[in-house]
Amino acid sequence: MSPVRRSRFVGCGAYLPARVVTNAELAERVDTSNEWIVERTGILERHIAADGEKTSDLAIAAARPALAAAGLGANDLDLIIVATATPDETFPATATVVQAGLGMTRGAAFDVQAVCSGFIYGLTVADNFIRAGSAETVLVIGAETFSRILDWQDRTTCVLFGDGAGAVVLKASEGQGGLDDRGILRTCLHSDGRQHDALYVDGGPSSTQTTGHLRMNGREVFRHAVVNLGDVIKEALEGAGITAADVDWIVPHQANQRILEGTARRLGIAPGKVISTIARHANTSAASVPLALAEAVGDGRIKPGQLLLMEAMGGGFTWGSCLARW
Ligand code: UT7
Repeated sequence: MSPVRRSRFVGCGAYLPARVVTNAELAERVDTSNEWIVERTGILERHIAADGEKTSDLAIAAARPALAAAGLGANDLDLIIVATATPDETFPATATVVQAGLGMTRGAAFDVQAVCSGFIYGLTVADNFIRAGSAETVLVIGAETFSRILDWQDRTTCVLFGDGAGAVVLKASEGQGGLDDRGILRTCLHSDGRQHDALYVDGGPSSTQTTGHLRMNGREVFRHAVVNLGDVIKEALEGAGITAADVDWIVPHQANQRILEGTARRLGIAPGKVISTIARHANTSAASVPLALAEAVGDGRIKPGQLLLMEAMGGGFTWGSCLARW
């Protein structure tokens, strides 16, 4: 083993908008029921951004506690990466709005678009910047206002998503090159553009000149999710030469409690090792992994030095995993 640069987690934070929408409230708007939503998804409620509250506002609200936990100011950052599929505007990047909002007057900021896998993609990009020596300190945020792209008449999708944001600060540190190092140890990314039609938004600047609405073949996505997530978890474990038993926590994308359980079952992972926060915020796309992470760090479940495996899958399809020591 020889010394290597590692991207170490030095802070995390999260933000959920104040307004909570329960399943019962949705049942008044579309033909659904609390029983169906709970049984099929595990979701009890979701948070919806207030009128005028934008993705950048959520991102900034998550970034502030992450920076505070790291003991850093905005100008200590070299780079901000915002993973989002619901940017404030078509351009500029929401990350630049966040940069200005945080008072960061140096460095660079850009968005990453991989829908629900966006946070894993963002971590991967940040890790590569740090390992290449192109950045010392990076803020990675997953932030979404999916409520803005939902068809509120479509019961098959509108009950599933919510708004929120989560953030982490990564800092370069020296490791020994082994699995005992703290920080990001391995990332695996995949996409398959042939699966476009299973999960997409039916609008955009160059196609319809409108924002469009989310469309999903839920059953198809579900089927692929369990397989792809299982495979990408295995890829990370086998690449590192370890088994699921060596991992302290799985921090999954929060899309469906049944996907969380199905994936864990397939890999022989004890259910008690899987962080689940879906009940309280539904699927928040790129925000859901850092929201789960921030909750489990905040309540003391995730402790310094523990081994985590984060994973996600989303439109594209895109999917990925990140093995890290907290
Ligand atoms: O984050 C990106 C990835 N997204 C996901 O991972 C989502 C993956 N998919 C899923 O989580 C699940 O497929 C859903 C939760 C979307 C749907 O659950 P399902 O068990 O696959 O249900 P289904 O689509 O097979 O629908 C079963 C029935 C249908 O009625 P029929 O055709 O059997 O008469 C639906 O019309 O449930 C009906 N249904 C509903 N009923 C009450 C669909 N949505 C609702 C609803 N309320 N909201």
